[in-house]
Amino acid sequence: MTPPSSSPDTSYPERIAVFASGSGSNAERIIRHFEGHPTVRVVLLVCNKPQAGVRARAAALGVPELLIERGRFLSGDAYLPELKAAGVTFIVLAGFLWKVPVALIEAFPRRIVNIHPALLPAFGGKGMWGAHVHRAVLEAGVPESGISIHYVDEHYDHGDNIFQARCAVLPGDTPDTLAARVHELEHRHFAPVIEELLERGREA
Ligand code: GRF
Repeated sequence: MTPPSSSPDTSYPERIAVFASGSGSNAERIIRHFEGHPTVRVVLLVCNKPQAGVRARAAALGVPELLIERGRFLSGDAYLPELKAAGVTFIVLAGFLWKVPVALIEAFPRRIVNIHPALLPAFGGKGMWGAHVHRAVLEAGVPESGISIHYVDEHYDHGDNIFQARCAVLPGDTPDTLAARVHELEHRHFAPVIEELLERGREA
């Protein structure tokens, strides 16, 4: 585990921690999107799965990581000292499945966002992740799915909506084909939406 720097480079006013525990294709796009950005940088990957593909992606792009453990995250100090040491100002959940503890939400009020691979409030909540979401969408027979980017509160997939984009559910879709279409939307929109949100915040 690479420890986060104890003296953050404050030349970037917005310093993102990406929390991810999957393959990390969204995390990678977000990191790349902000490379060379004048005010925003991804400064930390927070991961709870030693075997997650996202770790190699972040390492290849020079982003330090913090590997976290359940007890301390969910019922301890939520790793706030490490987040503070890295100068984190904004948190992006990109395929992170643990519930975010209240301590973290209170330390980053309206500064934690999540992406969900369906049109919330439908097809969200505990257990609704990955292929479970796409299977539920197909079983419901709805004509559209999409993505939702939303603030994080203490309930799963529940905070205020920030952005949604839609795609068709096509005849013959399987969870995999639908997931691929939804993933494309995520890759296209997630980083620009974060950028706009941070820029809007600076103007306010
Ligand atoms: C995405 O589909 C996202 O909506 C969900 O987890 C998935 C992460 O995919 N929260 P990847 O690891 O970024 O490829």
